[in-house]
Amino acid sequence: MDRPYVITVSSEKGGVGKTTLATNLAIYLKALNEELPVTLFSFDNHFTVDRMFRIGRRRGKGDIGDLFAGQPATDLVEIGEYGVQFIPSSHQLSEIRERLTAVDALARLLAASPLGGVVIIDTRPDLDMFTRNALYAADRVIVPVKDAPSLENCRHLYQFFDQQGLSRRPLRLLPCLIDSRIHYQGPFRDTYQLLKAYAINRGYRCLEGFIAKSPKVESLNTNPEGKIYPVITHGRSTEVHLQFTHLARQVYLGMREERERRLDQVHQEMSRQEQSRDAAFLARRQTLQPDCLLCDRPLASAEAIGPAGYYAETSDGRLAGFLEESCFTETVFRHFYGTRREIGPTDPLRDLFRESAQRSCFVLRRAPHTRNFYQQQLSFYRFDEEGLEVSHKAIDLPREPAGLSQLVTTALGNEEGRLGDQFLLISRVSSDFPEEILYDEQHGRLRQLAGRIAAQLKEN
Ligand SMILES: Nc1ncnc2c1ncn2[C@@H]1O[C@H](COP(=O)(O)OP(=O)(O)OP(=O)(O)O)[C@@H](O)[C@H]1O
Ligand SMILES: [Mg+2]
Repeated sequence: MDRPYVITVSSEKGGVGKTTLATNLAIYLKALNEELPVTLFSFDNHFTVDRMFRIGRRRGKGDIGDLFAGQPATDLVEIGEYGVQFIPSSHQLSEIRERLTAVDALARLLAASPLGGVVIIDTRPDLDMFTRNALYAADRVIVPVKDAPSLENCRHLYQFFDQQGLSRRPLRLLPCLIDSRIHYQGPFRDTYQLLKAYAINRGYRCLEGFIAKSPKVESLNTNPEGKIYPVITHGRSTEVHLQFTHLARQVYLGMREERERRLDQVHQEMSRQEQSRDAAFLARRQTLQPDCLLCDRPLASAEAIGPAGYYAETSDGRLAGFLEESCFTETVFRHFYGTRREIGPTDPLRDLFRESAQRSCFVLRRAPHTRNFYQQQLSFYRFDEEGLEVSHKAIDLPREPAGLSQLVTTALGNEEGRLGDQFLLISRVSSDFPEEILYDEQHGRLRQLAGRIAAQLKEN
């Protein structure tokens, strides 16, 4: 699949020319090679991209927020002016930002989409989760700097790359909004020379050249039509036009020279993770007890799992298997709730239990303070979804050979025939798809819950 080359424009400093750079670079790249698909989007809430590129009043099928909700990027792009396609900006970004915890979410979404060409991302003037995502996905990061403070801020971008274990290679500074009228005495004759020297001194790499401050360019987004005009059409007489032409060529050649796309690396990493997830699932699947842990009815064959209502795993991971729904319910009522009568399949108590079990889990273990062989009792706990204890009951060890007694012996018994220190965590599973609990994400959550429960049981 042809994955795009991602260019992220980022700086924590506001008003350094990020959006002007991102939008115009898109147009100049397109002008350089008409065949090259150029896609642009912004995590800013100024809607400059939309105002500059939208043709007429046409509205697309969604916006950049929808990309994070799983809508394919190719469905969201809108064909815009100057041959540049764009994903519309979003009003919902602050809500999405709160939920966005993965730094590689955008990279994964883009790696899975056949956009091709170049993707240019305009970011907000801070290192929020969207900016981090855009940096993580980038083959090239252009950091506009216009003065010493904006140059100092670059430190955080470099730190981000270091923290993520990413190469610093994509990062390039670009002096922007340079006022050519300012001259200094001494070796650094103007702001450009001075910023470049500062950057080199700090080990930051710069793109060649700079973007000058031009009153004409500044005027391009203030006009009676309420439009934003690009430099290529309305600022051709300025030096900025030549500077953008030069910049686009530099970026284009940089892209041509790059052997491997960042998104290809991300894709390979995704495949590796998928393989290891599959392997972990298979390993869990293969070590499952084949029968219901309470009644010996086959539940987990090589082909299928079910019909199971609960999954049980010991805290030391030695034993794992499924339980039939009715088997577990009846055991709990009989041994722990002391119900003498039969709890039939249509009994409302049973429904109630099944229902409440969705939001809790159960634990079996040796009752606290009964380490001594003759004293040993069995404790039955119910915990809520957060892992907080809801109820606890201790009973004498069951005597009959099958059922609960068998489960306790296989799951909790040690070599001396006593109950060990481990516990058995029992959790409700979806009856349609019980093996879901063996997937990394769900199983990881269960292990986390087991960890929280273990911490509490230790205190007992
Ligand atoms: N080369 C230039 N010459 C003159 N003015 C410019 C130039 N580039 C940008 N500007 C002006 O500077 C202001 C800030 O530019 P821009 O919006 O691109 O910065 P930004 O970094 O995206 O800002 P923010 O951090 O708020 O998103 C705008 O008014 C813009 O018109
Ligand atoms: Mg901006």
